Amino acid sequence: MKMKYESERPLYLDSSQPIDRRIEDLLARMTLEEKIGQMCQYSGITGEYERMIREGRIGSLLNVVGVDETNRVQRIAVEESRLGIPLIFGLDVLHGYKTIFPIPLGLASTWDPDAVREAASIAAAEASAEGIHWTFAPMVDIARDPRWGRIAEGAGEDPYLGSVMARAYVEGYQGKSLSEPDTIVACPKHYVAYGGAEGGRDYNTVDISERTLREIYLPPFRAAVKAGAKTVMSAFNDLNGVPSSANPYTLRTILRGEWGFDGFVVSDWNAIGELIVHGVAGDIYEAAEKALMAGVDMDMQGDVYNRALLRLVKEGRIPEESINEAVRRILRVKFMLGLFERPYVEAERAKRIVKCKEHLEAALKIARKSIVLLKNEGNLLPLSKHIDSIAVIGPLADDREAPLGPWSCLGDPRDVITVLEGIKSKVSPRTRVLYAKGCDVEGSSRDGFDEAISAAKESRVAVVVVGESRDMSGEAACRAHLDLPGVQEDLLKAVYATGTPIVMVMMNGRPLSISWPAEHIPAILETWFLGIQAGRAIADVIFGDYNPGGKLPVTFPRTVGQVPIYYNHKNTGRPPAPNIKWTSKYLDIPYTPLFPFGHGLSYARFEYSGLEISPLEVWRGDVVRVRFKVKNVGDCEGDEVAQLYVRDVVASVTRPVKELKGFRRVTLKPGEEETIEFTLTLEDISFLNYEMRRIVEPGEFKVMVGSSSEDIRLTGSFIVKEYVELPLWG
Ligand code: NOJ
Repeated sequence: MKMKYESERPLYLDSSQPIDRRIEDLLARMTLEEKIGQMCQYSGITGEYERMIREGRIGSLLNVVGVDETNRVQRIAVEESRLGIPLIFGLDVLHGYKTIFPIPLGLASTWDPDAVREAASIAAAEASAEGIHWTFAPMVDIARDPRWGRIAEGAGEDPYLGSVMARAYVEGYQGKSLSEPDTIVACPKHYVAYGGAEGGRDYNTVDISERTLREIYLPPFRAAVKAGAKTVMSAFNDLNGVPSSANPYTLRTILRGEWGFDGFVVSDWNAIGELIVHGVAGDIYEAAEKALMAGVDMDMQGDVYNRALLRLVKEGRIPEESINEAVRRILRVKFMLGLFERPYVEAERAKRIVKCKEHLEAALKIARKSIVLLKNEGNLLPLSKHIDSIAVIGPLADDREAPLGPWSCLGDPRDVITVLEGIKSKVSPRTRVLYAKGCDVEGSSRDGFDEAISAAKESRVAVVVVGESRDMSGEAACRAHLDLPGVQEDLLKAVYATGTPIVMVMMNGRPLSISWPAEHIPAILETWFLGIQAGRAIADVIFGDYNPGGKLPVTFPRTVGQVPIYYNHKNTGRPPAPNIKWTSKYLDIPYTPLFPFGHGLSYARFEYSGLEISPLEVWRGDVVRVRFKVKNVGDCEGDEVAQLYVRDVVASVTRPVKELKGFRRVTLKPGEEETIEFTLTLEDISFLNYEMRRIVEPGEFKVMVGSSSEDIRLTGSFIVKEYVELPLWG
């Protein structure tokens, strides 16, 4: 009996077998149609899709949500298709599933990879509990252009910070092992250089040098892959003339060849079909052929692989072995996830963990950490909870939608705590809180100004909450102006004219050019879109229950005309000098940013001292230790993000004026001092020479330690004594 049972039960269903054997066993049983089916992904569920699932012609769905619905659809695949291969359900879980955290640009402002890892792991726990296996995240595109709406989805402008965050996300989503039930597969996107879109216009052409590709845009992807990300999404954009979803150089040579990536590649939404629109394919057959041969394993929503691959194989235009390779990669991830053993989820578990108390507390903790204090003249902040009156003004002061931000997954506006609610719950019972919306985010109506002005006149202080609505950043949400939209700046000016001191609270998905407020408003908080706990986190900061310690992951320009502006620029042959005309600057505005990368204040003050660098002479195999002390010399506990920048002073190719190479967020009590030590390996200070080989050249390296990229407190240097060539990727 036992023998009979064993011979009937296919090997691929035996979880005690090694994954590779299970894959080969299953593959050998699949028809070509079923193999192609694994490579097709569709959005939502229809009768037609159900039929295709039964026929084994769909491998994955996105945007199917809910315990009942994912179970129902999964049952069709597992119980009604010939081989019972489970579907992998994908979703854009970017900054929370139902417990919504700050947008990724806000998460990056924590400069705290532990916070990011925690947010991602909570998102994974909630999503997996409701039947999601795979997130289209993290978005690791470097963005140097705030016009591009998708800057909100990533970690900002810096490859080092971006790489640290990329790793933290992958570790958070994927946990220790994908076979654990509370993990989901990560999908770093959009591979690659999507953030370099010309003019900051989404989907636009990207034309960048090999150096910029390798030194700026690739490192966060590399970090995500190194951390074990099992899928990658190929982007919409063309890169130097080759669309990313048909680019054998980036997908095969770099991703699989140089990095040894062993997961699968999914195209972005219809990016394979768009190869025709790009003008590199004449029809779906050519598009499918190019995408597959470049290394795209799964077609998201394009219906191109479904329609074209069978014929291409039959006509001998592509070898069946190329299909087999792609299917192996997809099946491997399904086996790793344990989908064959656990295709369904239990409603009970979801009820227990989704939006549970611990998750809401984590969302609050992380939201507070994301807040950046841009300005605090005369220590206007924090306010006293016993203040007798406070005006809460602005279109976003009581808005439940905006704090969710773009890509807020299944976030529910009813769960959002607004700034007005946060303030009301914090102040003393005797404090009079007046609220006036003032104006809309967009539009030209000033009808609400009078009410706002009188609220401000009757109050000791006005908290004015301004910015962008949630749909003004994210995909297809680019802006040519970076000012506060609509008449919001006029509202600020009108309130300012009352003489009542203003605390400006910003909610936005990109750096905004707020030159007037930066000059006139005494206190400014950048809160991005903080998620469902926004109002509590902001009120905690306004009234000093939490001391803000976030730092900007991206430069704020004075005006859109400065874009692109980023801290790790080159020196040029004529660096800007205020009084010399023939230098690299503008006639009409300063060349400096409004707020630099790494900037962020605290209610405490921090002193840096005792820089030690050792060794001062560096040879092959050495690591450089950079050590210094940070002391809280303020009168309250606070967080400081100490930042380490390095400059290669003379090299065979031009190098940035500074590059972030380390950072640490520390919490210090008043009077407390901590020694911080960073280690720099030769790889950390290496660069790509003119032949794109990774080298370290002898000579001086400047070390800069500080509180922002501009607020450098300690400097020193070391000398590299010999030429070293290193592997291309460490
Ligand atoms: C298109 C977006 O570019 C991508 O980021 C997202 O993951 C997919 N749509 C799926 O929603």
